[in-house]
Amino acid sequence: MTQAKVSQANVPQASLTQASLTQTKKKDSAASWRHYNFTTAGPVDDYLYSMLPKRDEVLAEMEDYATEHKVPIVGPAVARVLQQLAIMINARTVFELGSAIGYSTIWWAQAVGDKGRVIYTDGDRKNTERARGYFARAGVSNRITLHTGDALEFLSEQKQEFDIIFNDVDKEDYPRVLRLVAPRLRKGGLFITDNVLWSGRVAEKNPADARTKAILEFNRKLYDAKEFYTTLLPIRDGLAVALKK
Ligand SMILES: C[S@@+](CC[C@H](N)C(=O)[O-])C[C@H]1O[C@@H](n2cnc3c(N)ncnc32)[C@H](O)[C@@H]1O
Repeated sequence: MTQAKVSQANVPQASLTQASLTQTKKKDSAASWRHYNFTTAGPVDDYLYSMLPKRDEVLAEMEDYATEHKVPIVGPAVARVLQQLAIMINARTVFELGSAIGYSTIWWAQAVGDKGRVIYTDGDRKNTERARGYFARAGVSNRITLHTGDALEFLSEQKQEFDIIFNDVDKEDYPRVLRLVAPRLRKGGLFITDNVLWSGRVAEKNPADARTKAILEFNRKLYDAKEFYTTLLPIRDGLAVALKK
């Protein structure tokens, strides 16, 4: 999709009716990728999702597949924020750590335009093959480079500076990702990370779980890093947006 088409598609279609809200509740709130009632009270969450424009056929099919197979995709509310941020900084290059079936990758690919480049990474070859099929059907294959293997290792080999680096790998690796990012991001670029509220577990008093501890360490260090200006958006499972100064 070109950038012009992105902006057209993003215009809200119709005002919310009680019927559409009820329908949204029934159909979608059980989707595996929703964090219903965690960061936003259930009815408000339903309202936010009911406002989203209808996705195209491929993205809608991926959302259904993710729900059926419990693939932890970002879902359309966060994906739209990602795409909006990419458009706002006129991003042309995106490096994604942890791409799974390629759902968030397609949103990036639509944002970067025909001359843009998105690097897909995932450790699971089956995910890569499924993603490849979706990219072809979505008409964005020419904008995406697929890499199967360790995303952190691949990022560490990169010599170029990206406009956006998106982090969605295993949570224990978040502190290590942070150490790799700054030299590979342009000034004015964005380092974006999903799941930074970890279903609210970041607010526990003494969390024992290694993933929660890693996210807490990551969030603290990201806020303290002098290279970044960071905010933490409480959408879905929490999205950290860090601007490279
Ligand atoms: C949360 S899912 C990614 C979802 C995707 N960003 C989306 O929203 O559509 C995380 C994925 O990261 C992959 N993964 C986790 N750690 C990884 C690593 N170190 N290197 C490559 N892939 C990794 C997993 O295989 C999994 O498919």
